[in-house]
Amino acid sequence: MSDHPRLLPLLGATRHGTRDAMTCLYRCGNACEHPVANTSDNAYFGDVVNAEVSRRGVVRAGAVGALVLGFGGGSGALTFKPIPPNKLDTLVVPNGYDHAVVIRWGDPVLPGAPRFDVHAQTAAAQSKQFGYNNDFVGVLPLDKRGNRALLVVNHEYTNEDLMFPGFTGMDALSAEQLRIAMAAHGMSVVELERVAGTGQWTPVDKGRRPYNRRVTALNTKFDVTGPAAGSAWLKTAADPKGRTVVGTLNNCAGGVTPWGTVLSGEENFNQYFVGADAAPAELKPKLERYGIGTSSRYPSGSRKWERADERFDLARHPNEAHRFGWIVEIDPFDPESRPRKHTALGRFKHEGANVTVARDGRVVAYMGDDERFDYLYKFVSDKKFLKGNSWAARKHNLTLLESGTLYVAKLGQSSAAEIDGSGRLPADGAFNGRGRWIKLVSGNRSYVDGMTAADVLTFTRLAGDTVGATKMDRPEDVEPSLLTGKVYVALTNNTNRGVGSNPKADEANPRNANKHGQILELVEERGDNTAETFAWSLPIVCGDPADPSTFFSGYDKTKVSPISCPDNVAFDATGNLWISTDGNALGSNDGLFATAIEGPERGHLKQFLTVPLGAETCGPFITGDNRSLFVAVQHPGEITGASVENPASNWPDGDYAKPGVVVTWRLDGGPVGS
Ligand code: FEO
Ligand code: CA
Ligand code: CA
Repeated sequence: MSDHPRLLPLLGATRHGTRDAMTCLYRCGNACEHPVANTSDNAYFGDVVNAEVSRRGVVRAGAVGALVLGFGGGSGALTFKPIPPNKLDTLVVPNGYDHAVVIRWGDPVLPGAPRFDVHAQTAAAQSKQFGYNNDFVGVLPLDKRGNRALLVVNHEYTNEDLMFPGFTGMDALSAEQLRIAMAAHGMSVVELERVAGTGQWTPVDKGRRPYNRRVTALNTKFDVTGPAAGSAWLKTAADPKGRTVVGTLNNCAGGVTPWGTVLSGEENFNQYFVGADAAPAELKPKLERYGIGTSSRYPSGSRKWERADERFDLARHPNEAHRFGWIVEIDPFDPESRPRKHTALGRFKHEGANVTVARDGRVVAYMGDDERFDYLYKFVSDKKFLKGNSWAARKHNLTLLESGTLYVAKLGQSSAAEIDGSGRLPADGAFNGRGRWIKLVSGNRSYVDGMTAADVLTFTRLAGDTVGATKMDRPEDVEPSLLTGKVYVALTNNTNRGVGSNPKADEANPRNANKHGQILELVEERGDNTAETFAWSLPIVCGDPADPSTFFSGYDKTKVSPISCPDNVAFDATGNLWISTDGNALGSNDGLFATAIEGPERGHLKQFLTVPLGAETCGPFITGDNRSLFVAVQHPGEITGASVENPASNWPDGDYAKPGVVVTWRLDGGPVGS
């Protein structure tokens, strides 16, 4: 037995927690320039769905989630004074709040990490330091008094323009610089301690820090689980068994599971691969559907990592791309455990995954595929969640995501004839309808014609096309409220909706050339998260409240904050919905917003914070005691033309821009937002 800790997590104490051209290049490999990846002609037949779905009505889950995870209620009225939109190069919070940087790019994670020196970076140093472009944030309690916790963070992507002094172009980077970039991807686990008596947290900076860990794209090994593990699609020269993958890529959002692990979504993995022009002909349509251009050696936005590691060259290793695009699970309480890629949850541009425990004990993971016209998914486990803090329960729960059923969503409409793409509210007063979860695969059994289970799980987008799933406006974070069981989806935007031959607006995606996005609420039949039918509505259609195409659940629009491009969602302990934005198309910096989602205050959306120039607001995570709110400030200063020497943002230290995680707390120690 090693001297590494094997602490059980404190269950019940956590809750799940207009782009600049430079962001387009680095974050998603110029995805917007590529053709729409979903060219399937699966027809919309919403009214068919409506007819199929039973009319028994949907009841609220009520306190089901609360019972499972042990939350109290409370009024939780959002009384903070909203902050105005702004373009300041600083982080802005409401009066009565303070904030501090918890950790930033280059700060030490592993004991013995060298002090960060932007002029003397090495891959070995970066492998021990906090990575670049923090996205998902989870905070898991370590002690019962609430004074120690583990911070788990995704590092989605790198921006070499802003990382390397003297940068002139990707082709001029040295192999060592490419390896630094690989080491700056992945995840970090960092032990935190509370600043006594406050909502502030800082990294523990002394002692063994046995949980602290870096997971990277460079050399962390992952086990592959589920029905597609070991399939022909996953076998490569380096891994002839198709069961072990080196690295994780483009980890965007994620979630904390009820058993105290973290899930992380591999999103825009396509941009790391080149050479698909020379891939086998039968593979090309599959690569194209995942955004990997096959007409040239270097698609627009290529990272050219194949110069440091040949596995990124699909001409030589055509299956390597299939080993990314999965949901990964990491156990932060067992630092020697190997993280896993779960094939049972399908392969697409996973934004993230959030898990809830259904009434019968099975666990349900909700997931979005963040691409224009792509789909919304859920996974239902075969096995049931075991409650309690025993080693046996934990061992069992760690297997829950290895087998189950994967579904894709098909949404019907209640007012189809009135949807004209303008965003005009239908006469029934709601963008709403019913819908159905279409079964794609269950264990080793495929429900999709012409595809095996391994085919469906590895090329899930093609399975969704075949069964006629509903094409959505970029489904990002999808998260169930643990108080009500209702599920909330951030649909970021889709400027191609209704443009040219692309699909036109429908009731769930009601605006053509949709610049600002919308929030979708999904209520499962009978409040049962394993149900195969649901009702849906749009509580918020984003934009400037003065714009008639916006909707805030009928709340007085003169009292709501403008919001654009919702990306991540989170809940506080009283069930308020918090929404962070990515790519504000109204001209303000990105930020974080909150609204009640039940009762008369539903739709009363208020802006809580803004992030510095060029940044996106990621993460949001509110601790179980409601006293600390974490956000990730991703890509500050990411504005075309910026560099280390000529930064567009000086956040957070007054010199060049560094991504970092921030904690916000109320000066009087009270609950955040109230
Ligand atoms: Fe990484 Fe979908 O944003
Ligand atoms: Ca309607
Ligand atoms: Ca995102």
